[in-house]
Parts: sequence; structure tokens; C-alpha cells
Amino acid sequence: MFNKDFIFGASTASYQIEGSIDKDGKTKSIWDTYTSVKCNILDNSDGTMVCDSYIKYKDDVKILKELGVKAYRFSIAWTRVIDENNNPNQLGLDYYINLCKELIKNDIKPFITLYHWDMPQWLEDKGGFLNDDISDYFEHYADVVTKALGEYATDYITINEPQVIFTLGHVYCVHAPATKFTDKEMLQAIHNLLKCHGKAVKVIRKNVKNSTVGFAPCSRPAVPTDKNNELLVKKCYDKYFECKREIEFPNRVAIYSDPVFLGDYPKEYYEEFKGDIPNITKEDLELISQPVDYIYQNYYSGNYYSLEENNNLSMEDFCFGYPEGNIDWLQVVPETLYYGPKFLYERYKKPIIISENGFCNNDVISLDGKVHDPERTDYIQRYLLELERISKEIEVKGYFVWSLFDNFEWNAGLRKRFGLVYIDYRNGNRIKKDSFFEYQKIIKNGGI
Ligand code: GAL
Repeated sequence: MFNKDFIFGASTASYQIEGSIDKDGKTKSIWDTYTSVKCNILDNSDGTMVCDSYIKYKDDVKILKELGVKAYRFSIAWTRVIDENNNPNQLGLDYYINLCKELIKNDIKPFITLYHWDMPQWLEDKGGFLNDDISDYFEHYADVVTKALGEYATDYITINEPQVIFTLGHVYCVHAPATKFTDKEMLQAIHNLLKCHGKAVKVIRKNVKNSTVGFAPCSRPAVPTDKNNELLVKKCYDKYFECKREIEFPNRVAIYSDPVFLGDYPKEYYEEFKGDIPNITKEDLELISQPVDYIYQNYYSGNYYSLEENNNLSMEDFCFGYPEGNIDWLQVVPETLYYGPKFLYERYKKPIIISENGFCNNDVISLDGKVHDPERTDYIQRYLLELERISKEIEVKGYFVWSLFDNFEWNAGLRKRFGLVYIDYRNGNRIKKDSFFEYQKIIKNGGI
């Protein structure tokens, strides 16, 4: 069981659920551009309709209410609330104001993500995260949002998963905007993104009374196969926070979280990236390390490790007979929610909130008209058990399941389903899956 005030929530993101991509003055985002190129998306789908949440937001809130969550994490589309002249768009803001009001009426706390990957195309055309002024644009955007929503929403996440923005968008180029960065550009873009975070934190503190703030990276912890082997556990910790120059370096933890929580990049960063490091001033580091309230983290998978005879780590390529996620990167490693929070807490010493966790399944509507997804329930139960276990040792404040709905799973399109609610894309019907009712029970009972 979790504490009485533990926050059970559900999460979504603007481009993945809203639809209505050209209504009420919304401008194009990099995802509108990316999806318009044939073959970029597995099934050639795009965000035109998806869950139709721009229209059906009141139904969304009804569903959340029935689920019993205390909080709903959703993101704002920058492209709805700021126009191409960098001025506020009231029609777009009204949508989020109405959504917040509806949530509050139903005793559900809004948790707002400012940036969940849908950069305005006009800003991308000016260089996106490589533009040295991007943090000023982001500061202005954060200012507009929090002036409009501050009286309804106190909890903010500045940026979702910088790791994925850069690794999939600028190393492998399989996400928008799909432009390759050199290492030097990457380090500059990462630094600019962290400045966006810092400036937004300042603005949120200024505009919102009793605010809480954080950012939501993702990670795959190194999970020891033997919890009693101290050397192994220590090596897994070190592995998790490694900062090496390797192809996936933008996918790691410490390169973002050390500056935010500890006030500087890791020592290893300065050694590994010599020659490519951007100009990092003392003022930048002070800005980036504005105090935040929580360590948010999105967790889906981890990697098991054991020790070889010479005491080197060796990755174990097995998953103990758990169900397998229907997407290549989703191996089921429940202890992710034990060791991930444990290691983060040891290093950064702040309360933890799991901002995403969920399972991708090949869901079908059965002949009885229902969607039976025992694998997803199994996943949520196993992961939450591990989170309960660590919550006896460190401060864990909440858990947001990904996702409320099946939705647009980026380059995998509509094929890959993560929802507690099935979306029938042929007619827009929403069918609560078995896991919806199981999660409802968990919330009612305060744990597993
Ligand atoms: C995260 C992302 C979400 C969602 C989820 C499942 O990386 O923040 O938008 O796509 O993964 O893949």
C-alpha cells in the first residue's frame, strides 16, 4: 500500500490525442510536417483525428473521473497558444482553460507538461533547439501559459524526455524533425534545452502561487540480478549515470539531470566531450539548476546486469517469462521501478514521481465487445509492487500511467496501443479495457 496522499494519475500528450490540427488558429508543428511525408510513420497515420480530445475533452474528464485518478498529466500544444508572430492565441488558450476547469470541477488536479515534442514548425525553421534564442521563445511561451492557467493549475513539468527528442529526432532521425546533429551541435542543443527549462522554472515560480515544478526525463536503469551483491549494485548505479561519448549519449541520464539537480555537468562530460563543449557560463548553470520540487521520471524498461568472473558487468538478455511488449524496446523489467527511483534518489535527493509507465499490447475487440488485456494488468501490478517496495525506503509521491487512451504512438502510428481505454479509430468509439477496471481497483485500494 502507498501513503494516503499518494497521487495516482494518468497521462497523455497533446499531439498524440487532440486531433483538430488546424482548428482555432493552431499553427503547424514539426509533427504535422513529419507525418505529411509518406512512409515516415509505420501506418501512414497522423494527428488529424486520433482521440479527438480537442472536441471530446469533457468525455475525457468523465472517463478520468470514473477511473478514480487524483491527477491528469497532459501537455499544451505550443502551436495552439502562440501564433507565428509569437503572440498569444486566446482561442487555443481557452481550450486548456476549459479543460482545467472541467478537471477541477471533478476534483482532478491538472499536471501540465509545457513541451511534449511538438515544436512549432516556424521555430524549427529558425533552428529549433540549435537557435541560441530558443530559451527566450520558450520563456515567453511559459509566461503566456502560466498567466492564463496559473489560477487553475499549480503543477508543471517543463520538458518531456529530452533523451528521445535528441536520440530519435537528431541521432537516428526517425522522429520529427529528423535532422542529424554533429556531437558539437548536440551538446549545444542540449545546453539550450536546459536553459529553456531553467527560464521556464523562473517564470512558473513568478506567475503561479504555490507552484511545483520539475522536468520529465526518461531512462532505462541498470538492474542488478542479485540484490545482495553490493559490488554489482554499485556497478549498476555507476552504469546508470555514465556519461560517455557513444552514439546514444543523448539518451543518458546524467547529462541532463546533473546540471538540473547538482548544478553542473558530470566530470566525465568535460573529459569525454573535450573540443565539442559549448560555452557554459556560471550564470547558465545557475539558471539551469533553479530549485525544482520533484524528480519526475518516465520508466518503461530496464536492463538486467550480472557480474562476470572478472567483475565486469554483463547484460542479461532475458526477461523471466513476463509478457512481452508489442514494441521492440519494451522489455518487461519490473524492478525498474525499484532501482530507478532508488538510484535517482541517492544521487539527487528529491521526492520521486513516476510521470509515465505503461505497456504496449496487441489489443483486440473480442467477440463479446470488450478488450481483454491481462498482460497490461500484469505489467502494471508487477511494476507498482516494486514501486510500493521502494516507497518504504524513499519518498515516492505519485504514479502516472501511460496512457489514458490508445493514441498516436509517434513513428509507430496508431498500431501500437498503450491505453487503458481502447480507441476504435474507425468510428471514434472508446472502450474501457479490462486494465482500466484493474487500475481503478488499485486506486481504490491505495495499492496492490
Ligand atoms: C514516451 C513518450 C510518450 C509515449 C510513450 C510510449 O517516450 O513520452 O509520448 O509515446 O513513450 O512510447
